Amino acid sequence: MRIGVLTGGGDCPGLNAVIRAVVRKGEKEYGYEFVGFKDGWRGPLEGLTMKLDVAATRGILPRGGTILGSSRTNPFKIDGGVEKIKENLAKMGVDALIAIGGEDTLGVATKLDSLGVKVIGVPKTIDNDLNNTDYTFGFDTSVNIAVEAIDRLHTTAESHHRALIVEVMGRHAGWIALHAGIAGGASCILIPEVKFSVDQVCKWVESRFEQSYAPIIVIAEGAIPQDGDMITKDQTLDAFGHVKLSGIGEWLASQIEAKTGKEARTSVLGHIQRGGSPTAFDRVLATRFGLQAITAAHEGDWGKMVALHGTNIERVPLASATAKLKTVDPARYKEAEIFFG
Ligand code: F6P
Repeated sequence: MRIGVLTGGGDCPGLNAVIRAVVRKGEKEYGYEFVGFKDGWRGPLEGLTMKLDVAATRGILPRGGTILGSSRTNPFKIDGGVEKIKENLAKMGVDALIAIGGEDTLGVATKLDSLGVKVIGVPKTIDNDLNNTDYTFGFDTSVNIAVEAIDRLHTTAESHHRALIVEVMGRHAGWIALHAGIAGGASCILIPEVKFSVDQVCKWVESRFEQSYAPIIVIAEGAIPQDGDMITKDQTLDAFGHVKLSGIGEWLASQIEAKTGKEARTSVLGHIQRGGSPTAFDRVLATRFGLQAITAAHEGDWGKMVALHGTNIERVPLASATAKLKTVDPARYKEAEIFFG
């Protein structure tokens, strides 16, 4: 069998570990050949390929990013896009695809599956918001990056008696903020799922100063104030209809300064959370996902996504991954509230 592999959407640490595991087991155990499709769905759409064999995947396990490149190309937004993909796969003798991606990439994979393309999905996103898997790889790495930043910000916040705000990624799900905030001992955590009151945040800031500590506020980029809207960078949309976020941290800092008279500054972690080497947890999870994905292809179990349930790697219908977003349960958020203020 000849299998095409692609990585789509925002990159995330662990993508290369999946590619390596797929190719290693596929070549060694099943004798399959691989085609690396470059830059997400743009690869099969425009016939952009690279050599993908065991030799090409040596040394990539600890490397961040993806050797295949990525993009947010949506073939369903391009005239004749799906036909072009089918035509290119047939021309190159590619029998099936392994698509590694988040809600957008796997959404496309789900539609292609229903149109007869043989496809297996592998869930990735630092946001951890894909349904039907306990965790996605990349999440643990980005939480660790955010925690390291919070640890560093504590000491400078104390020295200057400032409120420091850390803006982390997370459009609709506050998993990174919640986990990094708990692990980093934040004075409050603000997530998209629960609208926040600026006055309440100011009370927590003041009470933290009263205890002679400087407050650290962890806020997800998609967090929304009770009497306001999500803050976007501009109005442009990508091919999947997403706006660019960021700015809520700065906005909150100005509110805190105006309402408490305390100095407040913001650090936006941005793409630092997506870069660099994956943690050991993510390397293991990504490797196990890759091994299960190629086994699923070998067994002809098309239209499935590999998923983590407890400690087991299982297969679930691709469509279930994107049926809804896995957001933070209010009860999970409540657990953290005892540490606020
Ligand atoms: O989906 C992953 C993610 O990192 C989000 O957390 C973030 O909102 C978005 O991608 C940023 O996308 P881009 O890199 O295209 O600006």
